[in-house]
Amino acid sequence: MNRSTDFIPFALPSLDRREEEAVLRVLRSGWLTTGQETLAFEEEFARAAGVPFAAGVNSATAGLHLVLEALAIPPDSLVITTPYTFVATAEVIRYRRAHPLFVDINDDFNMDTEKVLRILKDPALARRVSAILPVHLGGRACDPEALSRAGEAAGIPLVEDAAHGFPAAQGGRLLGTFGAAGVYSFYATKTMTTGEGGMVVSRDEELMKKIRLLRLHGIDRDVWTRSRGGVSWEYDVAEVGFKYNLTDIAAALGRVQLNKAQDFLAERRRIARFYRDNLGDVEGLILPRDCPEHSWHLFIIRLNRPGLDRDGFIEKMAEAGIGCSVHYKPLHLFSYYRRTYGLKPQDLPRAAEFFHQAVSLPIYPGLGEEALHRITAEVRRLVQG
Ligand SMILES: Cc1ncc(COP(=O)(O)O)c(C=O)c1O
Repeated sequence: MNRSTDFIPFALPSLDRREEEAVLRVLRSGWLTTGQETLAFEEEFARAAGVPFAAGVNSATAGLHLVLEALAIPPDSLVITTPYTFVATAEVIRYRRAHPLFVDINDDFNMDTEKVLRILKDPALARRVSAILPVHLGGRACDPEALSRAGEAAGIPLVEDAAHGFPAAQGGRLLGTFGAAGVYSFYATKTMTTGEGGMVVSRDEELMKKIRLLRLHGIDRDVWTRSRGGVSWEYDVAEVGFKYNLTDIAAALGRVQLNKAQDFLAERRRIARFYRDNLGDVEGLILPRDCPEHSWHLFIIRLNRPGLDRDGFIEKMAEAGIGCSVHYKPLHLFSYYRRTYGLKPQDLPRAAEFFHQAVSLPIYPGLGEEALHRITAEVRRLVQG
């Protein structure tokens, strides 16, 4: 394949010998499951996040579920959330037999804070709300400060789905650290990866104790602790828990990636700047607002020219050797949520409208200038028709 037709994938993990060596070290150590690597990863992550507690889990989905379990979200209660997200955000609410109360989005694809405040001012509705679960979409802060203040005033916990939020911030404070708990994803395409994995952070010691207990079958002492010399084999099962622990293999990967997180962020910023500098003048294109504290997990453009079909655009990009993606199909357009809650596209009109316009462009460390020129030239050509 010649250079100009090399396929540019939508996403690529950034791994080198340091990750390989870290994983090999664990493979040769004789201890593969949750152990000292996970403990070290948790400590290092908590330090980086500026919180006292962090618990490694095998996915962000598991982490979000654990938080809702530990908060004892009651069945039939309402959890305020966004339709503009990956399905994991709402599915964990259903695990508790509670219901998502979808709130439409603002210009940044995030849940509209004003609409949340209106819900909380309605006593009949607010009484049924058991949590607020926003997403920092693509790595842009969803206004967690205002949401946590409103939640506190109403006695409702804020749980941040910070799957895209590392290491983004609002006012210098890491996203995911504003509420009762925050959850990060280390899925393969995220801003740092362990293949599959996640991290729960909190300042609430009791909540974190519960999360740690539920993370591994409700067992009071994990295998690592029991395997240390002088510690009895015996354990109690104190709760009905889950199998959500992180392996030491994944944690070893995570520790190396965490060390590189600021370099990764600089790379993502470079690419976001390139897109803004090279696409800012294209009519019919809406770019994400600039933001110095963004994680730039995603760079979502909106096609805003009548007659310009989003799916056709993505197909043409693929024909030109450029992988793009769509984040996200709003949850109220999926059959389960339509059927269960009787939702129609126009019930959350902005989410539905933005979905039809949204295209995610490639953004990851190592994406070079030549590739970026190819991408922006093709976007310009297709949008300008
Ligand atoms: C917004 C959001 N929340 C939660 C998740 C779930 O993350 P995981 O795949 O680590 O379970 C994802 C994953 O893509 C996500 O994008």
